[in-house]
Amino acid sequence: MEITSDIKYVGVNDHEIDLFEGMYTVENGMAYNSYVMMDGQTAVFDTVDARFGGEWLDNIKNVSGDTAPDYLIIQHMEPDHSANIAKFMETYKDAKVVSSAKAFTMMKQFFGTDFSERQVVVKDGDTLSLGKHTLTFIAAPMVHWPEVIVTYDTLDKVLFSADAFGKFGALDVDEEWACEARRYYFGIVGKYGVQAQNLLKKASALDIQTICPLHGPVLKENLDYYIGLYNTWTSYSVESEGVVIAYSSVYGNTKKAVELLADKLQKKGCPKVVVNDLARCDMAEAVEDAFRYGKLVLATITYNGDVFPFMREFLHNLAERNYQKRTIGLMENGSWAPTAAKTMQKMLEGCKELTFTEHTVKILSALNDESQAAIDALAEELCNK
Ligand code: FEO
Repeated sequence: MEITSDIKYVGVNDHEIDLFEGMYTVENGMAYNSYVMMDGQTAVFDTVDARFGGEWLDNIKNVSGDTAPDYLIIQHMEPDHSANIAKFMETYKDAKVVSSAKAFTMMKQFFGTDFSERQVVVKDGDTLSLGKHTLTFIAAPMVHWPEVIVTYDTLDKVLFSADAFGKFGALDVDEEWACEARRYYFGIVGKYGVQAQNLLKKASALDIQTICPLHGPVLKENLDYYIGLYNTWTSYSVESEGVVIAYSSVYGNTKKAVELLADKLQKKGCPKVVVNDLARCDMAEAVEDAFRYGKLVLATITYNGDVFPFMREFLHNLAERNYQKRTIGLMENGSWAPTAAKTMQKMLEGCKELTFTEHTVKILSALNDESQAAIDALAEELCNK
């Protein structure tokens, strides 16, 4: 695949993976992107997952032919991109590794060597000329690990963006970008919105015509759309108006209450209502929805004096990703001592700029007139807030 006349794609698709990063289901697989830049000197950008080292080296060879690469640029040391560094260095014995000082520390940890005789250590603002192309390295700490650099090519106006602008899904499957890019962003980088905003600020000073991320498609058209969404996500702003109801229910009574609330919200004209059963849905999808919409209702039973485990995990996922700037409604159920609402509010107490609704729904075992009226009041409040 040609990115520009000098830049070629040498990454791989992975349809064997069961869980990406040990946690995320990826129905359409995963792509580990890598690129070769052919100039007076040749540079390879990043490697691929360990299982695809042979295929990746073949891809490089197909592009570079008898020209041995001079540089391997490592932007991120997470093994989905770095696993084949040693293999590359054995194959191309004169090549140098270009990376940040922190990345070399990690190389020593992963490979037992930091290739000390063959290192080029770069920091923010450093440049490397390959001939016509001059590469500028930009520090992007915590997008998504501390050692990350991204790289800008002034000649072709390409930003090699590391994990930023990445998405789940192999490149041989056609699918809409935003859904799987959003799930990827909030799942993997979501905690580091401030740092991702810093990177966007640095990128805004560049004339970018192509974005080459480490996962997902190369972005060439309509870059304002992708950068605009990234701006919304990294600043924790509301992307879509609507209410997400995330719930856990054991015998169906809390579920009935959730269905009643969803129905009332729809009838009152709420622009979008999304319902997620936390025991059965993809947790990463539920997390993504919570960050996408402006309002979130949490409904759960009280369990061992706490909340049901799926709700606990969900709230932990939100809090650790700096969930903020949202309106929250609470619904609790309990047969003798309902305390879930208080527990959920406490779990979110470290989150900034959350507004809790005035109306909280308390269900004692099953819906009755009183709890139905409370649901109506909550629906009314959510529609008018
Ligand atoms: Fe795609 Fe953070 O590794």
